[in-house]
Amino acid sequence: MTDSLTIRDNRTGEEHEIEIVDGTIRASDLKKVGGLATYDPGFVNTASCRSAVTYIDGDKGVLEYRGYPIEQLAEHSTFLEVSYLLLNGELPTSDQLGQWTHDVTHHTFLHENIKSLMTGFRYDAHPMGMLMSSVSALSTFYPDARDIADPDNRYLQITRMIAKMPTIGAFAYRHSQGKPYVYPNNELSYCANFLSMLFKMSEPAYAADERLVKALEVLFILHADHEQNCSTNAVRSVGSSQVDPYSAVAAGIGALYGPLHGGANEAVLKMLRRIGTTDNIPGFIEGVKAGKEKLMGFGHRVYKNYDPRATIIKKACDDVFAVTGVNPLLKIAQELEKIALEDEYFVSRKLYPNVDFYSGLIYEALQFPPEMFTVLFAIGRTPGWLAQWQELVVDKEQKIARPKQIYTGHRTRDFVPMSQR
Ligand SMILES: CC(C)(COP(=O)(O)OP(=O)(O)OC[C@H]1O[C@@H](n2cnc3c(N)ncnc32)[C@H](O)[C@@H]1OP(=O)(O)O)[C@@H](O)C(=O)NCCC(=O)NCCS
Repeated sequence: MTDSLTIRDNRTGEEHEIEIVDGTIRASDLKKVGGLATYDPGFVNTASCRSAVTYIDGDKGVLEYRGYPIEQLAEHSTFLEVSYLLLNGELPTSDQLGQWTHDVTHHTFLHENIKSLMTGFRYDAHPMGMLMSSVSALSTFYPDARDIADPDNRYLQITRMIAKMPTIGAFAYRHSQGKPYVYPNNELSYCANFLSMLFKMSEPAYAADERLVKALEVLFILHADHEQNCSTNAVRSVGSSQVDPYSAVAAGIGALYGPLHGGANEAVLKMLRRIGTTDNIPGFIEGVKAGKEKLMGFGHRVYKNYDPRATIIKKACDDVFAVTGVNPLLKIAQELEKIALEDEYFVSRKLYPNVDFYSGLIYEALQFPPEMFTVLFAIGRTPGWLAQWQELVVDKEQKIARPKQIYTGHRTRDFVPMSQR
């Protein structure tokens, strides 16, 4: 064996040979080294699956879906075409794309009882909480979704979920505004229909500016997958129990809700607003370096270089601001980036802007309140979650996710009656 590792156990003097495949060793092979396990909080150096969906080279700043560079997809493709690619592994032919677009478009409506469920939320409910609950509620509307072994059934649920996410997201937004919910218009494209459901008032048909529709397509494409990130891992982990895909995706939405994941762009805007003027940037940076807070929108578990999505978003900012006018926070963001990229603290830790640093500025220009930012992320990420879920379901090597622990608590003790405590 050449591709192998020889481990000498200094406790016993025994040597063990462990096979190396694809730059990894199997953690279960370590068991033969005196029952050894690995300890890896946050999975910083553990592969949980084999996946052919998304490739990232964090050092070089490369992101590819099914081998296609993100830059090319953002420039030439649409969100539905990219969704097809992620789910099926290949770009669609014209007929395949036509069928896929038809199928998604004809599942955009929600059961009226989902609407009733949503109207039951408080007026100030966070739209991510509404999205998460409504998606998990879909599992009760489609009990057939439990039959995850049937590929046709999986296709139906995947189509439904990709189709209904914008409707639920838009209803959640209208709810927070106290405005009537707007039903889907299936004459429109995926993104144009989403904008219509969000912003239509009394006009017979809502026609969004094509440049804004394109910007939304790009933003959704950029968010469509990112290999084994926190929310995808949540979808896979919950999905590994063989639950229906609505429940698994609801878990992913929960993970995305957190400020260290999808909530970061909302945090970026709050941070920029708090900084207020470029004069306050040096003082803010000093506070970050002293560990008082983080520079939100900077740093990434995988990218130790400029996040390629941030480059594309920066460009999309220009296109959107040409329609909406420049967001005044842009100046602070640009200056903050410039100062941070020259500062030893950020350089030595390889902290670069990530996708969230500029996305919030665009979303704000598109009239979204900060609470909606993560909902947009969730809509964009849905095909990625589902492509990964599907891969998990057909992967014979996968098992129910169940990590080990290092137990640090007490061992067997006798119960103490209340009177003696
Ligand atoms: C994304 C993130 C969670 C990755 O975390 P991670 O891989 O666990 O990296 P660590 O927290 O170990 O960071 C390594 C070092 O950089 C520092 N660091 C990381 N991100 C930082 C940030 N945004 N601002 C300031 N310092 C940061 C850490 O404090 C740590 O410093 P130390 O070595 O002196 O302790 C983290 O960079 C972060 O919290 N960023 C801000 C939130 C954000 O933008 N999230 C969106 C991700 S797309």
